[in-house]
Amino acid sequence: MTLISLVAMLSLTALLNAAEHPAVTILKTHCVSCHGGDAPVRNLNLSTREGALRGGDRGPAIVPGDVLESFLYRTITHAGDLKMPQGKPKLADADIKIIKNWIEDGAPWEAPAESKGAAKP
Ligand code: HEC
Repeated sequence: MTLISLVAMLSLTALLNAAEHPAVTILKTHCVSCHGGDAPVRNLNLSTREGALRGGDRGPAIVPGDVLESFLYRTITHAGDLKMPQGKPKLADADIKIIKNWIEDGAPWEAPAESKGAAKP
C-alpha cells in the first residue's frame, strides 16, 4: 500500500469515527496495528475500552483517572524498559498530552459533547 492511500484511509477512518475521542484515534493510528485484531500482541487489545482496561499479559494498560498507575502511559513516555510504539518514534508531545488528559478524565471512548460540533448555548 502506498503512503498516500494509507493516509487517505486513515483520514477516512477519522471521518467515519468523528465521535470517537481524539485519544482513541491516536491509539488506533499508532498502536492497534499490533495491539488489535484476532491475535493482539501480548493479548493487549487497544481497539476497545474494555481491552485497554483489561490490559495484556502484564495487567491493566489503563487505570481511568490515575495516569501514574496506567502502564500504557509509562510505555508511551518511555518511563520504563518497555517503550511504545515498539520500533517506531516516540509519539508527539501533543499526542502524549492528549492521552494523559484522557486517562485523567476517565478514558471515555467517545468524544466529549462539545467536540462533536454541538451548538453552544
Ligand atoms: C510494531 C508493533 C507494536 C506497536 C505499533 C505497538 N506495540 Fe506495544 N507491544 C509490542 C510488543 C512486541 C510488546 C511486547 C514487548 C515485550 O514484552 O517485551 C508490546 C507490549 C506493550 C504493552 C505491555 C503489554 C503487556 O501487558 O505485556 C503495552 C502497554 C503496550 N505495548 C502499549 C502500546 C501502545 C500504547 C502503543 C501505541 C502508542 C503500542 N504499544 C504500539 C508491539 C507493538
